[in-house]
Amino acid sequence: MTNEMIKIFDTTLRDGEQSPGASMNTDEKIRIATQLERLNVDIIEAGFAAASAGDFEAISLISQKIKNSTICSLARATDSDVKAAGEAVAKAALKRIHTFIATSSIHMEYKLKMTPDEVIKRAVRAVQYAKTFTNDVEFSCEDAGRSDMVFMKEIVDAVINAGATTINLPDTVGFRLPSEIGMMVKEMSQYIKERAIISVHNHNDLGLGVANSLESILNGARQIECTINGLGERAGNAALEEIVMAIKTRSDIFKGLDTRINTKEIYPTSRLIANITGIEPQPNKAIVGKNAFAHESGIHQDGMLKNKSTYEIIRPEDIGLNMEDTLVLGKHSGRAAFRDKLLKLGFEIDEDNLNSTFERFKELADKKKDIYDDDIRALVTSEMTHIEKSYELVAMQLMDSTGGVPSAAVTIRHNSIEITDAGIGGGTIDAVFKTIDRVTGYNGTLLDYKVTSVSKGKDALANVTVKVMFNDNEPAIIGHGLSLDTMLASARAYIGALNSYLSMEGKLSQRSSCHEV
Ligand code: KIV
Ligand code: ZN
Repeated sequence: MTNEMIKIFDTTLRDGEQSPGASMNTDEKIRIATQLERLNVDIIEAGFAAASAGDFEAISLISQKIKNSTICSLARATDSDVKAAGEAVAKAALKRIHTFIATSSIHMEYKLKMTPDEVIKRAVRAVQYAKTFTNDVEFSCEDAGRSDMVFMKEIVDAVINAGATTINLPDTVGFRLPSEIGMMVKEMSQYIKERAIISVHNHNDLGLGVANSLESILNGARQIECTINGLGERAGNAALEEIVMAIKTRSDIFKGLDTRINTKEIYPTSRLIANITGIEPQPNKAIVGKNAFAHESGIHQDGMLKNKSTYEIIRPEDIGLNMEDTLVLGKHSGRAAFRDKLLKLGFEIDEDNLNSTFERFKELADKKKDIYDDDIRALVTSEMTHIEKSYELVAMQLMDSTGGVPSAAVTIRHNSIEITDAGIGGGTIDAVFKTIDRVTGYNGTLLDYKVTSVSKGKDALANVTVKVMFNDNEPAIIGHGLSLDTMLASARAYIGALNSYLSMEGKLSQRSSCHEV
């Protein structure tokens, strides 16, 4: 007997991007969408087309590139939002519009200032209009977790009659317990029957996003909205990797159910998202945290040596994690071996990117004793950017700050001309960033600065993430820099943010929030 498939609706590029500090540029979004297709997600929510010209462009480009996953754009229940969503996904092989309006009394009264009848009319109009762009239309009752069931049945009837094919019941504020969500989904599922697919979208404010999603499946939900590494608004969303692996590992409970996810792509996808956003999963995070497969205590290690099933319910290789991942390549390895390694890690790389990444690999292999798969992943992610490098760091020199004034001398190439300048600051990072500002003429405000080590060892690569605002009227930009030298990684991250900003100039009109109508 074949299993019934639970649809995995990934919203890393939309709800996940709403995580504080997780904004991504267009090129990064395309790379993530390509990896999500490799992971085999059913639906990719690629963004919120009406939010900004940048979001619209990213969704359109993803729609043209991805062939095997449905591409979806979010839209509030207004004509202009639905139109933007419809136009953004127009070129997708498989396309969906996801429209929503709040259905809880608290949202209708205070946020929307609309009566329930007005809300139903707006929802029906949005679904009908969305149907003129695609047959595949999803409707969400925002704040379903706190909505009245009688009213939800009324609006759900109306939107199904208008053509909605998926009904999503979000626990927008992560308020419900599994037993409550289970009851809500069961009642709605018995009410809707075969008329539409029931979906859930569970936020994690009480740490119950995954538990609520699993309970929903047991009560009739057949689509789960989730994100890689559990990214999302506030405390985040239900983590895709945890839901998928729970369904697989507990097939005794989820009898006859499965997902299409290629679980061997879970770890590579998680690393890509962490490298791009600079948001590392907590070390003890289930499935993809650094310690998820580490056995510290002697008793556990002894058990593992005797039989792995004593303490291991999932094998690392099932999620694509190679525990003995020291690279056999070294400084004498050739391009062919390097390319082969990249292919094994799932990177399809063009000649230009191969050359520049190989050069950086050689520099790294000269200085670093052990090179791990995660080093290579981080290197490729940082090198494979199609953002035009308006400014390029050529050289940097730091003066000893012990007891003196921290200062930096920086040489930057712009339009084939090299400019050198020096400056001082309150600390070394401050001196480097202020000097870059002097050379480029852009004055950035640093909102966040983070450094993580990529793999292990004292000689680990430093991955620096900065969040910089170059213009008070425009959103902050994220930049990343990778180097064995933390200061160099910092300068690269700052210049990367500036290049990203310049590539997006004009498309960065202030993003509208998807939580207002
Ligand atoms: O949390 C939420 O309610 C949402 C909807 C827009 C689906 O993200
Ligand atoms: Zn959400």
